[in-house]
Amino acid sequence: MNELLAVQNIKRYFKGKNKTIFKAIDGISFILHKGEVISFVGPNGAGKTTLIRSISGYLVPTNGEIEIMGLNLAQKPREARQKMGVVFGGDRGFYNSASAYDNLAFFARLLNVKEKDIKNNVLNALEIVNLLDVKDKYVGSFSKGMMQRLHIARGLVNQPEILMLDEPTAGLDVESVYTVRELIKSLKEAGHGIILTSHDMADIETLADTIHLIGGGKLVFSGNNDQIKEFAGVDANTSLEKAYLAIAPKLKRGL
Ligand SMILES: Nc1ncnc2c1ncn2[C@@H]1O[C@H](COP(=O)(O)OP(=O)(O)OP(=O)(O)O)[C@@H](O)[C@H]1O
Ligand SMILES: [Mg+2]
Repeated sequence: MNELLAVQNIKRYFKGKNKTIFKAIDGISFILHKGEVISFVGPNGAGKTTLIRSISGYLVPTNGEIEIMGLNLAQKPREARQKMGVVFGGDRGFYNSASAYDNLAFFARLLNVKEKDIKNNVLNALEIVNLLDVKDKYVGSFSKGMMQRLHIARGLVNQPEILMLDEPTAGLDVESVYTVRELIKSLKEAGHGIILTSHDMADIETLADTIHLIGGGKLVFSGNNDQIKEFAGVDANTSLEKAYLAIAPKLKRGL
């Protein structure tokens, strides 16, 4: 009953060099439940962002089924996408000379939020990420940490059940990383299902219920912190970072 997202055998191919086919995602299946954080962990180029783009409807998968709260993404793309918020982060994507409020109202309209709900949804999203007091400030004046919280607010503006966060803590200072982690915890407690990618193993260790190790577009192993450490052949007291380092060579494409 509390299943939010079911992904079955998803593939995404691109044209490679000399008419070859490059399998960026090569048959990945998983389930996301309400109040659960699942993470995709793997080296650069493993396919994490392509996977998120494919599930969220930004890229059409080459193959596979995606069901979002009982809605098939291919058959009901509009309704299904309304259940999801996607956060890619970075410095781009906002109008620097417009306020935080106006930026989010713009994206709410793009996401087909009803006109009567826009004000409420935008203020609510700004409150969750603790940016309500700067709602009228130009986004161009925001620090990286504020910008990242604004990206998360953007992902929340259509009040989605599912949130996908692609490297939400990348490039942030220690305090901002902490703030974003606490924010993700509170969203999980509020019942959202969250898909998270990060290269920071402390993010994964503190936030993820299930870790999916991804390499070369395939899932190599899935489990919780302890199971990953067991798979890596390290002691349970070892950090997840050390465990990952032991596994990393197995996740490299082509090995
Ligand atoms: N539009 C595209 N056309 C061709 N190849 C692509 C395209 N998008 C991604 N790829 C390739 O697919 C592979 C997976 O890329 P992806 O960005 O999903 O990796 P990632 O796991 O998110 O890596 P990172 O940790 O660096 O963010 C890479 O080899 C990339 O070059
Ligand atoms: Mg990526």
